[in-house]
Amino acid sequence: MRTKKFITTPIYYVNAKPHIGHAYTTIACDTWARFERLKGNDVFFLTGTDEHGDKIVKAAAAEGKTPAAYCDVISREFRDAWKKLGLTPDDFIRTTEERHRVVVQAILQKIFDAGDIYAGEYTGNYCFGCERYLTDKELNEKGECATHLKKPEVISEKNYFFRMQKYLPQWKEALLKNPSQISPEGYFNEVLGTIDELIKNGEDLSISRPKTRLTWGIELPFDKNYVTYVWFDALINYVTAIGYGTPNFEPWWAEAHHMIAKDILKPHGVYWPTMLMAAKIPVFKRLVVHGYWLGFANQKMSKSLGNAKDPLDLADKLGNDALRFFLMREMNFGSDARFSEEIMMNRLNANLANDLGNLVQRTLSMLKKYDCGPNPSAPPHSSRGAIDAALKTLRGDYLRYFENFEFHNAIESVFVVIRLLNKVVDDFKPWALAKENMPECAALLNTLAQAIAAVLLYLRPVLPEKSAEFLTLLKVESAQEFPESLEEVTLAAQKLETWPIFFQRLESAE
Ligand code: MSP
Repeated sequence: MRTKKFITTPIYYVNAKPHIGHAYTTIACDTWARFERLKGNDVFFLTGTDEHGDKIVKAAAAEGKTPAAYCDVISREFRDAWKKLGLTPDDFIRTTEERHRVVVQAILQKIFDAGDIYAGEYTGNYCFGCERYLTDKELNEKGECATHLKKPEVISEKNYFFRMQKYLPQWKEALLKNPSQISPEGYFNEVLGTIDELIKNGEDLSISRPKTRLTWGIELPFDKNYVTYVWFDALINYVTAIGYGTPNFEPWWAEAHHMIAKDILKPHGVYWPTMLMAAKIPVFKRLVVHGYWLGFANQKMSKSLGNAKDPLDLADKLGNDALRFFLMREMNFGSDARFSEEIMMNRLNANLANDLGNLVQRTLSMLKKYDCGPNPSAPPHSSRGAIDAALKTLRGDYLRYFENFEFHNAIESVFVVIRLLNKVVDDFKPWALAKENMPECAALLNTLAQAIAAVLLYLRPVLPEKSAEFLTLLKVESAQEFPESLEEVTLAAQKLETWPIFFQRLESAE
């Protein structure tokens, strides 16, 4: 059955250019969106930029620009980066757009009218990196923000507060009934812990900033001396983009899936659902959370720590598909992963140059050299039974892993079949058969070419450019998007044109 999937990335702060961390989430959502589209689902894939708040004002000032001019430049860099990486979001939202201001003000007014926003005084430890007040637990031994390694500033001011406390017990109860709403499981538990802690300390959420301190934001509709707190503004992007208040909204919102890294679990796992409850909008369907890419000294890659890699440089060097493959295969979704040139080279050489590249190269070269295909009427080779059994298992595993956001395992399940195919080549030695038994050689090479087509069909979400190139070369037609037997796969090419090397082995810089 055809269903809808609304898939979102976080909207990224424009205080820095896109780095590998941002690229990872956006690529993961793109991979997932392609998978869903291949399954025949209707996808709306959203990304964008988060442009208000102190942090942006400071970054703009450091470059001698107005916030608006500065945001235009960096937001464009994000949009262009995703395009260059071959990503296909359906919309790119900016929180400085008029369509967003209208929705933020409408939601604020709605919650205010319902009595869930009130004025109050607050003193606390504010981290400008996180753009929120931190609790003592969120500080390290030195009293610094554990994420940004900077001392928070003590800030005291009159602000408007959202009665988050009123909704916390309700949210906890709903979550306990539906644990898969936040996954992997560790993050579900973390959110429950955060809810309990917030209930214990009894604090509500400050949702405004006085204009005396900050003007770069969306004005509160009920007090023109204040702008909206950047997180309250930013989270609403998810409903703005699909037309909150129009008939388009509900069908997409019912299928809302947010992907984030664990750094922003609290705003997404606690602020956002309680905001939605207060605004009488159903809570999102699912929140999926991944870990960090760790750079030098095993610290989270980030602009502030200065250890982040530029995804465009890497894509220039390796190609879009190789970068994408590395990121999606290397990180166990949910856990942290280490990034280094060496780890990347080993992964790409092992999987793309050796396992898959060799299989493609040797099979297609022999098919051409012995001039025996692709030939749709070639009889099946005796290895076919084993290959079909492996494809049947692959389909079940692959679909299940994707549903659980285990991208790394979904990809690995395809490589189980690729390794089997390499073993078939080694065991049956087509180069020897070519001398002794040409009909069997032809049967074997045609079966293998069909099997290569089958695995490329599975690799489309993660290697979109390479798989399209080779599927076109072979003129592949398949009865199912993810075939479970070779019978479903036909190669319509009569003769192979020349093809590029599948993946050029990387050599160490030393
Ligand atoms: N603007 C907020 C999000 C608002 S969403 C309503 C924000 N922006 S951010 O630019 O800091 O982006 C954070 C997100 O970028 C993470 O949640 C993750 O998706 C991605 N990553 C940034 N650094 C990362 C790593 N080192 N590793 C993995 N993902 C990382 O927070």
